[in-house]
Amino acid sequence: MSHTPVAIIGAGPAGLTLSHLLHRHGVESVILESRSRADVEETVRAGVLEQGTMRLMRETGVGERMDREADIDDAIEISIDGRRTRIGLTELTGHHMAVYPQHEYLKDFIAKRLEDGGAIHFETTVDDVTGYDGDEVTVTYTDASGAQQTLTCDYVVAGDGSKSPYRTPVLELDGAVRDRHEYPYAWFGILVNAPQTQKELIYGTHDNGFALISTRTPTVQRYYLQCNPEDTVEQWSDERIWSELHTRVDSEDLQVSEGEIFDKAVLRFRSAVTDPMQRGRLFLAGDAAHTVPPTGAKGLNLAVADVAVLAPGLVRAVKKGNRDLLDEYSALAVPRIWKAQHFSYWMSSMLHSVPGDPHFQTRRRIAELESVLSTEAGRTYLAQQYVGLDLPRFEI
Ligand code: PHB
Repeated sequence: MSHTPVAIIGAGPAGLTLSHLLHRHGVESVILESRSRADVEETVRAGVLEQGTMRLMRETGVGERMDREADIDDAIEISIDGRRTRIGLTELTGHHMAVYPQHEYLKDFIAKRLEDGGAIHFETTVDDVTGYDGDEVTVTYTDASGAQQTLTCDYVVAGDGSKSPYRTPVLELDGAVRDRHEYPYAWFGILVNAPQTQKELIYGTHDNGFALISTRTPTVQRYYLQCNPEDTVEQWSDERIWSELHTRVDSEDLQVSEGEIFDKAVLRFRSAVTDPMQRGRLFLAGDAAHTVPPTGAKGLNLAVADVAVLAPGLVRAVKKGNRDLLDEYSALAVPRIWKAQHFSYWMSSMLHSVPGDPHFQTRRRIAELESVLSTEAGRTYLAQQYVGLDLPRFEI
């Protein structure tokens, strides 16, 4: 039996960032992760860092590789039937954004936590979490060798993703809600060995549907195509993918660069917000509490924003016995989550064609997009939301 001030379930963006921030303030934690380190470090996810996330990485000593290797952009482009409009993020907001895949972010935080002597137990299965309504939490888990372990802690944080079972006890509270929205489309994502189509991301809309031109490295590109949520990888031959990408994005001065496709996957579109995100000594962070669709790539950034509130709350509680900030965690985190939810929904709805939509809706949708793109106020609003709001800062 061992004890830690904070047990964290899940070595994703929420759990690792939280553990790192706690450590910087002298509060130790133990991370329990069901997957292997290799699996965590290789799973392909989205890859845009908001300005606040970049700043947090730099200010807390984890930003060096990101600054060296990320694709840092001053703009994104939005294309309507191949006509592109540049949204000058830096010019409009003073901030840039970084394309830095989530698994690279995780690698940096895992390395830093281990370097700082942090405990991350990979390949462990949490069997039970009890006592969160009382004075001490008990977590029982099966470690990588198959042995049963018991860990007691003052607080437990579930950062174990959208399927987290720890939402259930939170949702049993009076007045607790989980708001959800399903979308009539999904993304077909590919990784391809090809040179960059262009430096900046292109979000394109076309009668055939949405397409996104993103990047990973100078020689690996990440492209997405709107597809049906029921589509399977088998339905998307390489030929069909290239034909759709060219149709949806190409113009006289730009052609999507082609190469060998080495990864294909369908990404689901879902929105969900759980409120509150806590019960007693149990806290939810990141996708365990909320899910956003991938348009705008807010998922990782929202997890970081959650723990920017949760970390100082836990530090005050553990070190000073003061729960004031911790008790306010949901109230402080949820408004930002809804703003990100709205932005992701709004970008998605402007850029995707809904199968079977009346012509009226299509024309209105394009007019909305054109209104945003053709006014400085519209472009500024989009740019501000895209680079992200500042992260909350609390005195410890
Ligand atoms: C990505 O590169 O995976 C990506 C970029 C921008 C998005 C979503 C995903 O909005």
